[in-house]
Amino acid sequence: MSDDGTVLCPGSYDPVTNGHLDIITRSSQVFERVVVCVVNNPLRKDRTLFTAEERQAFIEAATAHLGNVEVRIFSNLLVQSARELGAKAIVKGLRAISDFEYEFEMAQLNRKLDPEIESIYMIASPEYSFLSSTGVKEMATFGGDVSDLVPGPVAAAMADRLAER
Ligand code: PNS
Repeated sequence: MSDDGTVLCPGSYDPVTNGHLDIITRSSQVFERVVVCVVNNPLRKDRTLFTAEERQAFIEAATAHLGNVEVRIFSNLLVQSARELGAKAIVKGLRAISDFEYEFEMAQLNRKLDPEIESIYMIASPEYSFLSSTGVKEMATFGGDVSDLVPGPVAAAMADRLAER
């Protein structure tokens, strides 16, 4: 397979939501190979609910039926990972105008770091336009039902992890 069709889908994925999976699935239908990059940010490590390995395992389980998707943990610059993996583009979801400002900055920073890596934005499906990992964690913390917002195993693991705290 040529590397020309490889894209990265980066994120914290703490935890992966059905909105993330919508973007990953749609990307897998457009591009040859999708590498989901789970950020292992040392600055945020003690603030994540799940370890990078746990986040990776949740995504691997939820995308096992997609033959052209793989999941990796990364702890360097995204454009560096893109170069190493032969990816020409970074694909991210855009939910609302409020996402735009942050994503505009990220796209410009990444362009400055490597003008050859393109940033591509996919508009979130309407049913997921309100969905974020932060919102899901807050709902679960206060006993809200998140079963139709995240994969089943993630909902169960969140309940367990939050009960430990
Ligand atoms: O899910 P998130 O938290 O919005 O994802 C943010 C992420 C991981 C995409 C972003 O923090 C990132 O790209 N981090 C890697 C470091 C990097 O390359 N930064 C860009 C320019 S400084």
